[in-house]
Amino acid sequence: MSRPKRLARWAFERVESAFDAVFTPDWNPLYQLGALGWFFYWIVAVSGVYLYIFFDSGVTAAYESVEAITHVQWYAGGVMRSLHRYASDGLVIVMMLHLVREYVMDRLHGPRWFAWVIGVPILWLVFAAGISGYWLVWDKLAHYVALATSEWLDTLPLFGEPIARNFIHPSTLSGRFFTLMLFIHIAVPLILLFIMWVHIHRHTHARVNPPRGLAIGTLAALVVLSVARPAVSQGAADLGTIPTQVGLDWFYLFVYPLLDEYSGLAMWGLLGVATVLLAALPWLPAKRPVPAVVSLANCNGCGRCAVDCPHGAVRMAPRSDGSPYSEEAVVIADLCVACGICVGACPTATPFRRRTALEAGIELPAYPLSDLRERSLAACRALQGNDRVIVYACGQGPDLKAIAGPSVAVVELPCVAMLAPSFIDFMITRRHVDGVFLTGCRANDCYERLGARWTEQRIAGERDPQLRARVPRERVASFWAGVDRGGELAEALSAFRARLGELHASQAPVVAARPGAVSHAG
Ligand code: HEM
Ligand code: SF4
Ligand code: SF4
Repeated sequence: MSRPKRLARWAFERVESAFDAVFTPDWNPLYQLGALGWFFYWIVAVSGVYLYIFFDSGVTAAYESVEAITHVQWYAGGVMRSLHRYASDGLVIVMMLHLVREYVMDRLHGPRWFAWVIGVPILWLVFAAGISGYWLVWDKLAHYVALATSEWLDTLPLFGEPIARNFIHPSTLSGRFFTLMLFIHIAVPLILLFIMWVHIHRHTHARVNPPRGLAIGTLAALVVLSVARPAVSQGAADLGTIPTQVGLDWFYLFVYPLLDEYSGLAMWGLLGVATVLLAALPWLPAKRPVPAVVSLANCNGCGRCAVDCPHGAVRMAPRSDGSPYSEEAVVIADLCVACGICVGACPTATPFRRRTALEAGIELPAYPLSDLRERSLAACRALQGNDRVIVYACGQGPDLKAIAGPSVAVVELPCVAMLAPSFIDFMITRRHVDGVFLTGCRANDCYERLGARWTEQRIAGERDPQLRARVPRERVASFWAGVDRGGELAEALSAFRARLGELHASQAPVVAARPGAVSHAG
């Protein structure tokens, strides 16, 4: 990770840590920005359907129907209108934060370009949907937006007649215009929904629902805001006068004041260039990982790698080598980010194997399993004391150099979930170390999306391959932390070593595995 990016991430994670303290890591909205985006979308959709029932699309009827919704049935229609407005604003806020966060966290390179590039039309569609919504109300703001947008569109050679003419005199505006706007305001969000689905369709187990507590809290906050500060219109549009003073919704309409300063063409050019640059960001120079490869001789077709891969980069295919197994794993190289999570999922990834060469059914060519075993053993050889710890860590958390020492060895992995539980078994039961400590990205925000979750589940015996029951759990610890929590990581590690020292004093036995035995993790 480059220095400026590391700094940006540090700053971001400081704020997130503060949010952790307020919301707890499970409900921290900054870890759920994509899911909150979906949540806001559904609130907008449901409230929009309600408003549609009572909306009347006519030159004067549009404004009057919105007024009736807002004031006559303020307890239902009024709240729905406000929910519609505030959830739309919420969608813009979480979308922009999500964009910045994915960039700062470096989640846009390699196969992730797809989600990023699909995110760009999402931006345009969200703004198009919001702006078309402001036209429908047909108040002074709507008049301003209609005039400014149509004049802006007229700078492009799209229409034979300037469309801005429609909004300068009552006789030129017909009810058909509102029907058209209503159609656009419904069609654009439907296209948006489809694109949002495409956006995440490569993600296995994509987080599209925020945790229940966060969802309820968010909805409750929106309802309170809707009752306390209902969304209202700004007086009926008067086509005889040009609106000069209007209150803007800055989340959607921030471009409009710029249109007073710069020409429409210049603004199109600016937005066009910004769009192209944004879409091109994933191709800025970044290390291209070497994708995982399958070794058919070691693959029994169990499919765990395909289930655990967070990026949908493994598919199961009919067996091609005449072996008795019905399926084999196939890596889709273009989608693989070389996180190694599939290696940790593979039942053949066991370091106990001595008689045959250590090779798993699926391997990272840049970091073979045999290397991992050799690195682990070499790192531990010189360790001293009765609290010897091997730390397996990914490079996404705090600086690891600070924690290595005479009793602590550090082995870095692309993702902690590359470590098959049998490695923990091997290191402890063979007495290479007194304890194994796992650390990676922060709770609920694994860089590889699911690595920390799979690791915890494998250790807890809830997911295959499981950590065998014979491994004393008091000799295994984990600490999930962002780059800003190096101090806490060091403290957690010291506490773990102190516990190991106490265990030694109380002579807690470690079950020694039979030399040469094969682990049957899972
Ligand atoms: C309505 C707006 C959006 C919604 C609702 C949304 C939602 C989501 C969701 C649910 C995920 C999956 C998160 C996970 O399961 O880990 C995701 C991933 C992603 N989004 Fe968005 N997104 C939106 C807009 C954008 C925009 C504008 C961009 C950037 C231009 C973007 C970039 C990404 C990237 C790069 C990922 C992949 C992250 C990874 O692979 O770890 N998204 N989005
Ligand atoms: S290395 Fe990661 S992305 Fe590649 S196949 Fe394995 S789990 Fe999937
Ligand atoms: S987890 Fe290993 S054995 Fe199972 S299908 Fe994947 S590569 Fe083959």
